[in-house]
Amino acid sequence: MADEVTQRKIEHVNIALANDVSAPQRANWNDIQFVHQALPEVDPGNIDLSTSFLGQALRYPIFMSSLTGGHPAVTMINKNLARAAEHYGLALGVGSQRAAILDPRLAASYSITREQAPHAFLIANIGAPQLITQDKHAPFTLEQVQRAIHMIEANALAVHMNSLQEAAQPEGDRNAYGEVAALRLLTQQIGLPVIAKETGAGVSREQALLLRSCGISAIDVGGAGGSSMSALEAARSQTRGDERTMNIGLLYKDWGIATPIAIVEARTARLPLISTGGIRSGLDAARALALGATMVGIGFPFLQAASESYEKVCEVVESIIAQLKVAMQLSGATTLAQLRETDIVVTGASHEWLALRGFEDELKLMAQRHWRRMQAQTLSNTEVSTDV
Ligand SMILES: Cc1cc2nc3c(=O)[nH]c(=O)nc-3n(C[C@H](O)[C@H](O)[C@H](O)COP(=O)(O)O)c2cc1C
Repeated sequence: MADEVTQRKIEHVNIALANDVSAPQRANWNDIQFVHQALPEVDPGNIDLSTSFLGQALRYPIFMSSLTGGHPAVTMINKNLARAAEHYGLALGVGSQRAAILDPRLAASYSITREQAPHAFLIANIGAPQLITQDKHAPFTLEQVQRAIHMIEANALAVHMNSLQEAAQPEGDRNAYGEVAALRLLTQQIGLPVIAKETGAGVSREQALLLRSCGISAIDVGGAGGSSMSALEAARSQTRGDERTMNIGLLYKDWGIATPIAIVEARTARLPLISTGGIRSGLDAARALALGATMVGIGFPFLQAASESYEKVCEVVESIIAQLKVAMQLSGATTLAQLRETDIVVTGASHEWLALRGFEDELKLMAQRHWRRMQAQTLSNTEVSTDV
């Protein structure tokens, strides 16, 4: 089992780097538009991107998404990511730690992150399917989960929800019955914030509320529209000649709730939100933050850069920050709190979906925030002059 898991970890990285495993969505970031401010009155030099996540101050609202670990060959990738997380003050996730839970000799490929990033907000990672009984294995014990946390001295634990990936994986853990009860128990026992993390199929309003009722502290909406774990597994199945799972992977590669939609849906739960899935520029990041995300998660662009060098990772971070600042200036925001008060117009397939799901009033409010403030101001000025 340990050999199978570590082999899978290296295959995931190699396939993602060598193939296009993205799943563009009909509903996407282009549906989300800012209302341009011709006189924005913002000095880019004063833009403050700091935020707070689960009680920790972060210099930037950027999460280097949970990607890898579990094979000696990926240690350098985690090292490059961790150096950048430390330098810029970013949050960083490691990939599923199942491999090192099963074989402690693989722990170094994860613990390198804490060695290189002693001050960063590090997020441990395990899978929800491994919290319950599967055909081939028993659930992880609490002690095993704690081992994953201690391995990187984590600040929080992400539990990834990846039923779609497991369905498309040749050797997948298909059972998903009992995950809710297991999550509820885990949040009571673990003594660390637990983040529920989808891996590309998104989180709906109702599921977000269910997660909150389980004691989850934050949600990574992990929506569709970026790297597709289903497409990734289809490519693995193909190399194994497993036609049946390959076809499932291809059929469902763009299944799920697109990331911008998932933010609007999941914010109903009023928990801190990470927006991962298809963020490819600072403008996408600005859109996600304006819709209500606390942080944006970025996966593939960091994986690609970190497989080359630390300097490449820094280039990605710097360009996302520079692009994000332009969106903030042009929409009149100096802080992330102000960005969340800017006008956002949701159009196209995202609008269609959200209107049918009952979010029409919220969409109108988002599109008219400035105007409503102006009207409220005019009204209060009139009241003052009437009083006089
Ligand atoms: C090669 C690869 C491996 C991944 N492994 C994990 C993992 O072990 N645990 C996890 O929670 N997410 C994993 N993910 C999902 C990412 O964290 C992220 O949700 C996904 O890549 C979508 O973001 P993106 O569109 O910016 O790439 C992986 C993604 C890729 C591409």
